[in-house]
Amino acid sequence: MVNILVVGSGGREHALSWKLSQSPKVDKVFTAPGNGGTKNNIPIDVDDLDALADFAQKNNCFTVVGPEAPLAAGIVDKFNQLGLKIFGPSKNAAQLESSKIWAKNFMKRNEIPTARFEIFDDAKKAEDYVKSLDYNVVVKADGLAAGKGVIVCNSSDEAISAINTILIKKTFGDAGNRIIVEERIDGIEASYIALSDGNIAIPMASSQDHKRIFDNDKGPNTGGMGAYSPTPIVDDSLAKKIHEKIINKTIDSMNKEGISFKGFLYAGIMIKDNRPYVLEYNVRMGDPECQPITMRMDFDLYDYFQASVDGNLSSLPEPSWKNQSAVCIVLASEGYPESYPKNEEITGFENISGDAIVFHAGTKNQDGKILSNGGRVLGVTALGDSLQDAITNAYSATEKISWPHKYCRTDIGQKGLSYL
Ligand code: AMP
Ligand code: GLY
Repeated sequence: MVNILVVGSGGREHALSWKLSQSPKVDKVFTAPGNGGTKNNIPIDVDDLDALADFAQKNNCFTVVGPEAPLAAGIVDKFNQLGLKIFGPSKNAAQLESSKIWAKNFMKRNEIPTARFEIFDDAKKAEDYVKSLDYNVVVKADGLAAGKGVIVCNSSDEAISAINTILIKKTFGDAGNRIIVEERIDGIEASYIALSDGNIAIPMASSQDHKRIFDNDKGPNTGGMGAYSPTPIVDDSLAKKIHEKIINKTIDSMNKEGISFKGFLYAGIMIKDNRPYVLEYNVRMGDPECQPITMRMDFDLYDYFQASVDGNLSSLPEPSWKNQSAVCIVLASEGYPESYPKNEEITGFENISGDAIVFHAGTKNQDGKILSNGGRVLGVTALGDSLQDAITNAYSATEKISWPHKYCRTDIGQKGLSYL
């Protein structure tokens, strides 16, 4: 039996710890720092790598890292040096997410399909470039900016203002020392997530996130307001294309460049004319995609994590998935992704039953009461025999949960329905 340490505090980490605790090979699952829904919380921040390593060592833990920041800071390299088992990519491999410029150049030199782009550190040169184009662009800060460093522009004026925001006003600090100006591709987005051991990659179930704050994809981008799995947008032939031309090519090209990629590889994909383009890489599970995906897993996730670390995924069978749909609706604090109230008591958990699970994100447990403690607060996730059934089940569960400034989108999953 092994203990697990899940690093992180979001809905993704609650879902991972929920799934891992079902493994007969797993004894105790700790979460650091965790949230109001996770059990065995350890009060260590995700960036305190020394304290995390110390805890993992003393408690004989296999560690699973949820968010990108500790991966980019080299948590996996550190644990490996200490002989500790840890699931996730090394610091070098995490550059696919931690530097958008590194990732774009990597895709370019390895012919992985992505939008054409130029890189700038000089605002005037970037402006001149934008003015010379006859298509719309997206302006991106190079470094990690909590999902906010990407500005999708509808005109060259908007692009110039985005360039100023990042390079002159430094809204994203040093993450915006350099920018990418890339062609805007107008298509349909999906998330494609695979699990790699450095040699091969196996696909996770398909999913689609809903990134904008308001219904019909209006308003600013967020971390994700809801997701469902599977998505009809990625049919078998498209999945095969993405797996071969993007995922396998990425793992193989990384190897050619001397970098072994282990862990979840998430490609944010834009599909146009049935052709997939990589918008971004993430080197971890998506949040909220993780919640519906884990709910559909009909296999022992710990086995696959262990095989990824040991480099022998090919010895395991293809993972099997529940033949049902799953939908996660994010309940957020009104005001997110800008400012929002905290510390409001959330009630109604006892009324949730059946096929629904409430994964916690921005919550804390204070003297037995669950209080809101973040922008994305809960991920209400439900199974159903069809996408429509899963949507109905998930929304009916959301109605049982209340707090004063609860907000959610009302159209999670509709994009998938319109495709059927
Ligand atoms: P990223 O963090 O790079 O995935 O960007 C966040 C969001 O911006 C994506 O989910 C897309 O909705 C949008 N986006 C990024 N790059 C592009 C692009 N080249 N064309 C159109 N939309 C994009
Ligand atoms: N849901 C998008 C992400 O995890 O980056």
